Amino acid sequence: MEIIRTVLELKAAVENFKKNHKIIGLVPTMGALHAGHMSLVNRARKENDVVVVSVFVNPTQFNNKEDLKTYPRTEENDCKLLESAGCDIVFMPSVEEIYPKEDTRVFDLGPVAEVMEGAHRPGHFNGVAQIVSKLFSFVEPTNAYFGEKDFQQIAVIRRMVELEGFKLNIVACPIKREDDGLALSSRNVRLTPEQRNIAPNIAKIMTESLTFAKSNTVKDTIDFVVNKINAIPQMKVEYYEIVDGITMQSVSDWNESAYIVGCITVYCGDVRLIDNIAYKK
Ligand code: PAF
Repeated sequence: MEIIRTVLELKAAVENFKKNHKIIGLVPTMGALHAGHMSLVNRARKENDVVVVSVFVNPTQFNNKEDLKTYPRTEENDCKLLESAGCDIVFMPSVEEIYPKEDTRVFDLGPVAEVMEGAHRPGHFNGVAQIVSKLFSFVEPTNAYFGEKDFQQIAVIRRMVELEGFKLNIVACPIKREDDGLALSSRNVRLTPEQRNIAPNIAKIMTESLTFAKSNTVKDTIDFVVNKINAIPQMKVEYYEIVDGITMQSVSDWNESAYIVGCITVYCGDVRLIDNIAYKK
């Protein structure tokens, strides 16, 4: 496995593989890798000749300085995991390498980016579009892999791909969970033991809501989830929205779409956790 830190070297390495007609899969990450990320890497390994994984904590997508400061960084362990998964190239650039000057691009991401995370984290998705578009133009992969835990992010990236005209496949991979249901996230390490014990209630209550939804309205299902989670000490729902799985716009009736997903953000103490569940697919 090659560890590359500059854009020039990355482009040269990729060019070399392309000359030999190799299919390249890219897995963009912010490091602090866990089994969720590794499931993307494993899938990329199966579907491509060459696997490139980027590890870069992208400052432009953090609208909260404290979150950026405390975001876990575990470079050495990330490299070990990637090496044993058969990754070919890990791209670990510095902030100066990616942003030698300020990236002032503003993407017209439209309605998919205006709701939920877009509404609660101003600028977040524009930052995601900035870094992912840079990575796509450096690597020009055939396939790029993203986890469905960040469900809305995938819709936003698809929109960015359309805007920029990238020719690649976005591969959406299912959420990986702990045995107790908690969605894997790099932020889980910040939970205290007590918070870690209660955090699985998010997935548990959303799963219970699948049955509730069968005989209740969308609005009542939202209330069901929000009230049950908010009743748990230390937990506070930031939003729970039930949306069309493609447009990310709220639905008010179960018949409004063939693909309906509930997307949640919950503060567990001061740790912001996100998750989602499909009601119809
Ligand atoms: O999902 C993430 O980890 C990040 O948003 C991504 C896609 C790697 C861009 O920094």
